[in-house]
Amino acid sequence: MKKNKDQLYRPRKISFSGIDIQLDVNKKKINQSIQKTLERGKFIMGPEVKKLETELSNFCKSKFSITCANGTDAITLALMALDFKSGDYIITPAFGFISTVESPTQLGINPIFVDINKDNFSININELKKIIIKAKNEKIKIKGIITADLFGEPANYSELLEVCKESNLLWINDGAQAFGSKYNKKSITLYSDVTTTSFFPSKPLGCYGDGGCVFTESEKLASKISSLKIHGKGENKYDNIFVGLNSRLDSIQASVLLEKLRLFKKEIKRRNEISDFYLKNLCKNIKLPDKQDNSYSVWSQFTIRTKNRDNLKEFLLQKKIPTMIYYPKPLNKQKAYKKFSNFNNSLINCEEACNEVLSIPIHGYMCNSQAEYVAETINNFYKK
Ligand SMILES: Cc1ncc(COP(=O)(O)O)c(C=O)c1O
Repeated sequence: MKKNKDQLYRPRKISFSGIDIQLDVNKKKINQSIQKTLERGKFIMGPEVKKLETELSNFCKSKFSITCANGTDAITLALMALDFKSGDYIITPAFGFISTVESPTQLGINPIFVDINKDNFSININELKKIIIKAKNEKIKIKGIITADLFGEPANYSELLEVCKESNLLWINDGAQAFGSKYNKKSITLYSDVTTTSFFPSKPLGCYGDGGCVFTESEKLASKISSLKIHGKGENKYDNIFVGLNSRLDSIQASVLLEKLRLFKKEIKRRNEISDFYLKNLCKNIKLPDKQDNSYSVWSQFTIRTKNRDNLKEFLLQKKIPTMIYYPKPLNKQKAYKKFSNFNNSLINCEEACNEVLSIPIHGYMCNSQAEYVAETINNFYKK
């Protein structure tokens, strides 16, 4: 692995997401940025918010970046802007975070679950096609899909675009874990009708509270989302042309993100160095994450798979290596969403993934010796 500044990032206990070290290393600038916003006193829709939206667009080359209160609202805003209505149908994978099913359900939209691939965590496109055919036969009109680029790796966008075009489906891509990732050398925000992200603190680009953003190339959608997020405002806040939400990103979070955005490229590069090291050095007893040749991942998580997952987790905990299980239960098995699992029960890969996944430490401030210790400890577990 390329030498990094081990001496700068002082060796200390292994952090899972690195937010503590990131603050340690950049405290002065982040504090100054927050302090400026406090002194300016424009806590809601202050100039920091507009500036951040411009800088986010510069970063990912999307024409429109509209910030909002969190990544879940970002999906809700996308659905509302695309005119999804109560009673519509939308397809989404059953492996992932709850928001991709929660947002549509809140609007009365019926989710239909689809399986993921056996070898990665992306939507299974063959299964998607089967569902589209079944729905047609049953005279159910599917209006769109919500995908999520879990752990940072984009889905097979080329195939997805073809399916969406063929079947006239709207495509919302939940990029909460993939802002900064690329597909065919272009930002992930440039492919779907609307892409969303979350600035939850532990995300690769995270703030110190809740935050989110919606990206689109369409001026019409951007203008509608900008209205929807402020109570559906027209000329002003007291003129309401849509039923909307209160979903603004506050100025203090914007000031944190402006500062963190300056560090982001360097942090992504470091995440890629760590993931390359893991991919080369972790033993063959575990299944390593799949990576497409035409993608560049932000590696929000490095997620391995093993049948011994729970024992390995316990072993790593004893060795002071934190891990997380993303995600322990498929969405179709969640109590609140079980009722939506009638249309498609063939979700075996989602179930298997839930039993086998384990995310290990990775972040933009991880030093070589820590990554070496993590890999060595995992490999030792299998030598026992
Ligand atoms: C894939 C995915 N989608 C959506 C969200 C929701 O984001 P937020 O917590 O900002 O609402 C998350 C956050 O964990 C996520 O990981």
